[in-house]
Amino acid sequence: MPEVKGPRRMGVPFRFAMAHVMGFTSVRNMRFDGRFQSDHETQAMKLPALLLALMASAAMADTPADEAQAMGERLAACAACHGPQGEGMPGSAYYPHLAGKPAGYLFTQLQGFRDGRRHYPQMVYLMRNWDDAWLAQIARHYASLPFVETRHATPPAQHIRDRDHAQALVEHGDASRDLPACASCHGPALNGIEPGVPALAGLPVDYLVAQLGGWMTGARHSIAPDCMSAVVHALQPGEIRLLAGYIATQVPAAGSRPAPAGTWELPRACGGTQALDSAHGVEP
Ligand code: HEC
Ligand code: HEC
Repeated sequence: MPEVKGPRRMGVPFRFAMAHVMGFTSVRNMRFDGRFQSDHETQAMKLPALLLALMASAAMADTPADEAQAMGERLAACAACHGPQGEGMPGSAYYPHLAGKPAGYLFTQLQGFRDGRRHYPQMVYLMRNWDDAWLAQIARHYASLPFVETRHATPPAQHIRDRDHAQALVEHGDASRDLPACASCHGPALNGIEPGVPALAGLPVDYLVAQLGGWMTGARHSIAPDCMSAVVHALQPGEIRLLAGYIATQVPAAGSRPAPAGTWELPRACGGTQALDSAHGVEP
C-alpha cells in the first residue's frame, strides 16, 4: 500500500468522502495513519497499544520473583495511574492503590469495568476485550504486592464535630436507620477482609466521595446482593463527604493486609465476596 502522509495531502473532498464512508460526522475528527480514527479513539488507543507491545516483549517467567517482575512489565501501562507497584499516585486525590487488596475483590472490579457495573472510561476501555483468566492473573499479581503508604493529597481539615460524627458511623453505624458500622465489614482498622471486602484506609478522599456517590446515583454496582448500595442509601445528605474526609485520614501501616477470611462474620450478605477460584469459573 502506498504511504499516505496525512490528511492535509489528501485534500478536503477526499477527506470528506472518506469521513462519510467511515461514518465520521466531521472531517476535523478524522485522522489517517494507516487506518481511520476519531480524535477520541486516537487518545484511547495509546494505552492498550503500549500494553500490547509490553505484553509481547515480556520475558518468560521461571520463579515467582521472575513471574512478578514479568507481570510488572506486562502491566506497565497500569503504572501510569496506579504506580509501578500498584501503590497509587503520590499527591493524587483520586487514583486508588491496588497493592495488597484481596484478589477476589480486584477480580470482580476488573470484571465490573468490563461488564458494565463500573464506568470509568479508561478502565472500561482497557478491560473490554480481556477474558476472566487474564483478569484473574492481574488480580493475583496486585493482591500479592505489599501495601505501601502513599501520601495522597491531604484531605480538607474537618471540624471536630464532623469528625466525631463520621468516626461514630464508621465504628458503630446507626441502628435507628439500619446502618451497620463500616468497621463491621471493613474491619476495625479498615484493612478489609479476604476474599471480597477491600481496605478503605489509604484511599484518597475524592476517590472515596466518587465511589460512595456512585452507589448513591446508581453509577457503581456490585454483584447482588449489593450491600454497599444499601449502606449508602441509608446515609443522609452530606454524610458521604464527612465519611470520605475522615476515612482518608486513616492511613494503614506499611505492609498491612486484609484480615484472613473468616476472621469476622459480615453482618449482611454481600455479593461477589467469594475467593478467586472455581467459584468465579476461573481455575485456581
Ligand atoms: C488513565 C489512568 C488509568 C490507567 C492507565 C489504569 N487505571 Fe485502573 N483506575 C483508574 C481510576 C481513575 C480508577 C478509579 C475509577 C473509578 O472511579 O471507578 C481505577 C480503578 C481501578 C481498579 C479498581 C480499584 C478499586 O479499589 O476498586 C482496578 C482493579 C484497576 N483500576 C486496575 C487497573 C489495571 C490492571 C490497569 C492496567 C491494565 C489499570 N487499572 C490502568 C485509572 C487508571
Ligand atoms: C455489610 C458489609 C459492608 C458494610 C457495612 C460496609 N461495606 Fe463498604 N464494602 C463492602 C463490600 C463487600 C465492598 C466491595 C464491593 C464490590 O465488590 O464492589 C465494599 C466496598 C466499599 C468501597 C469501595 C472501595 C474501593 O476500593 O473502591 C467503599 C468506599 C466503601 N465500601 C465504604 C464503606 C463505608 C464508608 C461504609 C460505612 C458507612 C461501608 N463501606 C460499610 C461491604 C460493606
